[in-house]
Formats: sequence, C-alpha cells, structure tokens
Amino acid sequence: MCGIMGYLGPKAATPILLDGLRRLEYRGYDSAGIAVHDGTSLSVAKAEGKLDRLVGQLDVQPLVGSYGIGHTRWATHGPPSDRNAHPHTNPDGEVAVVHNGIIENFTALKEELIAKGAAFASDTDTEVIAHLVAEEYDGDLLEAVRRAVRRAEGAYALVAMSKEEPGRIVAVRMISPLVVGVGDGEMFLASDIPAVLHHTRSFAVIDNGEMVDLSPDGWHIETLDGTAVERDLLEVDWDAEQAERGGYPHFMLKEIFEQPAAATETLSGRITEDGTVDLDGVDWPEGLVENLDRIWITACGTAFHAGLVGKEIFERLLRVPTEAAYAHEMRYRDPIITGTTMTLAISQSGETADTLAAANLAKERGSRLLALTNVVGSTLSRDADDVLFTRAGPEISVASTKAYLTMLVGEYLLALALGERRGAFDASDHAELVEALRHLPVKIEEALERDAEVAEVADRFIGHEDVYFIGRGLDNAVAMEGSLKMKEISYIHSEAMPAGELKHGTLALVTEGTPVVVVLTQSDVYDKTVSAIQEVKARGAFVVAVAFEDDGEVAKHADEVLRIPRVPDILSPVVSIVPLQLLAYHVASARGHDIDQPRNLAKSVTVE
Ligand code: M6R
Repeated sequence: MCGIMGYLGPKAATPILLDGLRRLEYRGYDSAGIAVHDGTSLSVAKAEGKLDRLVGQLDVQPLVGSYGIGHTRWATHGPPSDRNAHPHTNPDGEVAVVHNGIIENFTALKEELIAKGAAFASDTDTEVIAHLVAEEYDGDLLEAVRRAVRRAEGAYALVAMSKEEPGRIVAVRMISPLVVGVGDGEMFLASDIPAVLHHTRSFAVIDNGEMVDLSPDGWHIETLDGTAVERDLLEVDWDAEQAERGGYPHFMLKEIFEQPAAATETLSGRITEDGTVDLDGVDWPEGLVENLDRIWITACGTAFHAGLVGKEIFERLLRVPTEAAYAHEMRYRDPIITGTTMTLAISQSGETADTLAAANLAKERGSRLLALTNVVGSTLSRDADDVLFTRAGPEISVASTKAYLTMLVGEYLLALALGERRGAFDASDHAELVEALRHLPVKIEEALERDAEVAEVADRFIGHEDVYFIGRGLDNAVAMEGSLKMKEISYIHSEAMPAGELKHGTLALVTEGTPVVVVLTQSDVYDKTVSAIQEVKARGAFVVAVAFEDDGEVAKHADEVLRIPRVPDILSPVVSIVPLQLLAYHVASARGHDIDQPRNLAKSVTVE
C-alpha cells in the first residue's frame, strides 16, 4: 500500500504534509518522510517507525518551504528502517521521489544502473526511480519522469520533484490510486481524497496511465504519450467520518471493494514474462520441494478457511498429501512432521498466538516453515524460513475480507511455484491457469458490480436466527468462510458443512423458510450438490445459490441465485466468496450492528 502526499501553495508545506500522512497512516506506518523545497535547496527528513518519530525529528530540525512531497510506508522491498523510508533521492540529492506500489523490473534496472557506476543507499525499488529520473533529467521534470516511467514496469503511483525546478511537482498513476486536490491558490496530491478533504472539496481523480504536472501556474493532466487530458473536477460532500472510510459507511465494505486492487498487488511482479512464478521472499533449498511428502497448513479463523482452499488445491495440483489443521489443535497434537514436510502458516496479522505456536512446533520438528501473512515485520514473518506477503494493505475491520482473498491468491501462486519445481504441470494447463490468475482482479471487480442484487437477497435473511451454508470440496471451504462472516457480524447463528453431511443430522433443523446458502461452482460434483438442494427444498428451505453467470441449470433449483463471473472451477473461491462477504455485510447492516467491531472479538488474537 503506502500513502503519498504532495503540496504546492503559499503555506508552509511541512505541517500540511504531516497532517495528510497522519490521515494516510491506515495505508502503512512502518516509516515516514518528507522532502521540502525552499526555493533554493531540496531537503529530506525521514524516520523509521510511526509518524510521531518524524514529527519529533522535525520539531528539532524543521524543514522550511512551501512545496513538498511526503510518504508513509508499508514495507515491500527492504525491511522498515531509516534508510528504506521515503523520499528517496539520487546520490546528489537533485531528485526526490515518493512511491506507492511495486517496480517489478527493479532488479534489472538496478543492475543496469550499478554497471554504470551508480551507488544505492537503500534496499527499495523506489530508489531506482530516483536514479532513473536524475539520469533522464535535462531541465524538464515532466519529460524526465515520463522517460523514467517508460523504463519501469509495475503497478504503482509516484510523485517527484527536482532541486532545479522550484515550484514544480510531477506525479504518475500506473494503477495505484492518486488524486489532485484543487484549493484556492494551492494544490494537493494524495493517495486518497480523505487525506486532504479538510483543505478542499474539489478533486481531479487521476486515471491509470496519466501524469499530472503541478506548478504555480496550475495543474494539467496528460497521458504518458503526451496527449493533454481535460478532467472535470469532482465535488466531494462527505462528512468527516465518511471521509476516513473513503466515503464507505464501514471499513468492512471499503475493504471488500478494495479486493481487486489488493489481488493486483498480490500478483504484482510474481508472474514473469514467460508465465512462470517468481516469489520474492521464498528461497527453497535444493531438493526440498522435489522430495516433499507432506504439507501441513496451520491457521485460525478466516485464515484457516483460506487453508482449507489451500489443502484442496495443493492436493489437486501437486498430488502431495496436505493437512489443514486449526493451529490451536495442531499445537497440542503430536503431528507427524519430518524433514521432508513443509508447513504453511497463514495469518493476516502474523501475531496470532496459536498460529505462532503451531508454526514453531513444526519448525522445531524439522519442517521448513513458510509464512503467508499480510504484515511485514510481524513475528510470524520473522520466525519463518520463507515468507510470502499477501500485500493486502492494512485491514481495519475485524471481519477479514481482503486479507482472506489475497491469502487465496497467494496460495495459487504457491501451488504454481511448487508445481513448476516438481514438474507437476502439463504446459497448456499451466498456461491456462496462469492466464486465469492474471485476470482474477477483473473478475473480482465484476463480482462486486452485483452488490445491489446481493443487498436485495440479504433482506430475506434479516428476521432469521439460523442460517446454513453448504458446498462440496472447494465450495465447502468457501461456505465455511461465508458462514463465519455471517455469524460474526450479523449475530445470526450460522453453520457450514459439506453438502453431503446435511442428511446425517443437521437436516433436522431445516424447516419452512430456513435460509440455506449453497455454493455451486464445481462441475465434477454439481449434480451431487443439487441433490442436497432438493433435500432442503423438500423441507421448505429458502435456497440461495452462488453460481457462475453461465449456469443455465441452477435457477430451476434455487429460489435466488447470486451470479459470479466465469473462472476455471479451481479458481472459483476467489470470486464466489465476494457475494458471501456482501451478503453478511448487508444483513448485519440491516440489523444495525457495529460492523467493524463486532461484540466480543478482536482484530488480532495474541493470547492463547
Ligand atoms: O491475524 P490472523 O489471520 O492470524 O487472525 C486469525 C483469526 O483471528 C481471524 O482470521 C478471524 O477469524 C477473522 N477476523 C474473522 O473475520
């Protein structure tokens, strides 16, 4: 994630930048920094840790000037530290850059620059951009940034300034969000509208592939190829509370709608041009993957449900026996673990006490420990031998949504990486899966476009006190997560189980009008799940099915159908979970609950 800021106007830039960064801290807060121009020189201040450390530093050594840029960081390349904090400059300090996102080809660019004699002061991909802009600079910052961006691949937004051009700030959006706030004689750049909403209510939203040039004469937008763009200003009328949540009524809904961008970040730079998977932070020793005879997946709650998907896909794609175990169970079992076992510990926070204990037990017993986590610098990420960061960005709502979805994307990447090493794939199957994986963010977006239909169906759940979720295989894993979402925020009793299990007991609870949600995406067991629908329908259940948009059969069996875009069956969890998250959200919202902080729960469970 990361948050970026810029200011150009008559006022002192430092307090405005710091205030904006404080409002962007939800995007990351492991370090922060600003660069300010006083008309003659360009000065930088930055510090590891929360923004207050930077504020303390600036109290002692203020930076004076009326335009500047700022950054609050969520580490991706290089650990949180002073040297990795933004802004980054070229060695002579002529160009300063802040950046959000990932420069995918930064290693190649860095090697190219080092070969020409460049020295680097950080581990970041951002510093490469500062070098490139300086190398391309011939008196026009806009053109230098344009040429630098043409050499940099990835999904990012960046803001640059030059010592040589006081009063000018240039920014680019390549997928990562960026807005210009237009005030009275002053201009702001920010990763989101709320960061500067108390300064202005007029915004130009920068589109993908556009550059914006700010100077005392005003602002203008153009495309990367230099075509001028006319942009109407957006007038924003959110109140202060809405602003913090980006205009959404709750963080949960905001985070659900952030999922296409979050999945893009998870995938970014991890699929190479030839379609193979390259995982940063994962460096398996020779022979480990080839000789793997068992995989353990351990986690709690939503992360455990992501693990259930992992079990299915690892067994299907790799043919390696995989066990998904609740961490609080595994730590007190006597799990069969050897040197040819790999353990995947999944945790959004990387701090869940039970998950840490189970992960370390596996490691002590000789297993290679792989962490799949969202938080850079978390205990789990430090304990593990290898780490795959989900890059979902900070998740505020207790009910996990975007962290879960990015865990799934991470597991598909892992399955591909492991399968490539084990020679498990037929080339065309592999290519098809990679292609479909690349398109997932668009599919998630399409699933979100049906929000209004889900909200209508949600009305039918409001007065009920019991709900059941069923599915088979991957659909069962998703049903488990859909059920947890429903119970934790709506407080409706909810149970999930494999569709075939109903008739062994739970069917006794299904009576006239009982809502039953059926996830129905797996073609190999489709008819079997339809039989379970018949069983509950015969007892009067109100059946809501989650099914692909091209499923012409399902409407004959279910009372309501929540449609999802077509993806290969094996990838369905990434899209089928979306209507279930929205369903839980709308039911809880209609019941008037505290959605972001449900009763009795905590975001991070650091006690046993
Ligand atoms: O931080 P973790 O992923 O380790 O948290 C595990 C569970 O506490 C968590 O997934 C919990 O179930 C969710 N907040 C539910 O939405």
